[in-house]
Amino acid sequence: MEVKIVEVGPRDGLQNEKEILPTAAKIELINRLSASGLRYIEASSFVNPKWIPQLADAVEVLNGIEQRPEVCYSALVPNLRGWDRVKETRLQQIAVFMSASESHNQKNINKSIADTYPVLAEVVTAAREHGIPVRGYVSTVFGCPYEGDVPIANSLRVTEALLAMGIQEISIGDTIGVATPKQVHEKFSALVQEFSAERLAAHFHDTRGTGLANVVAALEEGIRIFDSSIGGLGGCPYAPGAAGNISTEDLVYMLEGMGVHTGVDLEKLLDAGAYIQSQLGRTLPSKMLQAHCAARGESK
Ligand code: HMG
Ligand code: MG
Repeated sequence: MEVKIVEVGPRDGLQNEKEILPTAAKIELINRLSASGLRYIEASSFVNPKWIPQLADAVEVLNGIEQRPEVCYSALVPNLRGWDRVKETRLQQIAVFMSASESHNQKNINKSIADTYPVLAEVVTAAREHGIPVRGYVSTVFGCPYEGDVPIANSLRVTEALLAMGIQEISIGDTIGVATPKQVHEKFSALVQEFSAERLAAHFHDTRGTGLANVVAALEEGIRIFDSSIGGLGGCPYAPGAAGNISTEDLVYMLEGMGVHTGVDLEKLLDAGAYIQSQLGRTLPSKMLQAHCAARGESK
């Protein structure tokens, strides 16, 4: 069995760091991730830099990395203003995003769900005219920081609307890391029945320690695309208390041990993890990274 891993650390991870990492360190991180065998890297975000100053240097980062032909580099794009900046770079894919719950959508992108659709449709149309495929994110599928439980009907509706725009793949987000395997089975079985597993990805945050268990549950539902972040960096600035994504090192270790092929060289991946840990100067959540550093007698 093979899976596709989408590395979101340089975007989902770094958007949430208090300190703004220098552009050169972001470039070095992405170059190391590219060398590890990862094929999909979300490298930055073209949102309003007033909201996410951590990623204000998206153009410089994308133009500074060594783009490998075998790697698909992507970035978040919320509107046509963001798309204008994308045109100053070379990207193989972009990603749009919205939430299944009204209050998180409003806090995160300053619009109602209904008002978000036409804005995203414009971006998708522009990207498709340039031959650039679009990924979509649906956030708060497993719970909203403001509304609590989110009915599956909301997620089905938003996913359907995004697919109808011509988006190729939808990443289903546990934005605040509340999901348990039981809930993953329930929600993904409904989504897979409606849209088929090939078009869906799982995006788990590990706030409550259920991230990898949720991966196994999603695998059992036929999901073969997983988002994760180097070192377990991450969170959402508009989801208080949300911790990092599941760590890419932990995910690769677990999947390879289960006989699931990831195409990633774990040693090189750990090298990227150790690099970003040393740049940030704090111990990152990845268990695999900590085991690796302990075995080598290294700390941050
Ligand atoms: P807004 O600020 O509400 O916008 O932006 P506006 O449309 O009213 O514009 C206000 C000003 O912002 C204008 O400038 C625009 O030109 C400018 P002014 O006329 O005042 O000088 N502006 C921009 N500038 C640069 N680039 C842009 C841009 N857009 C507007 N793209 C917007 C709406 C959505 C852009 C804003 O709310 C925003 O940037 N929000 C940030 C949201 C975000 O990045 N959240 C984190 C990512 S989502 C996530 O982490 C979840 C995910 O990981 C999945 C999961 O875990 O579930 C994906
Ligand atoms: Mg996320």
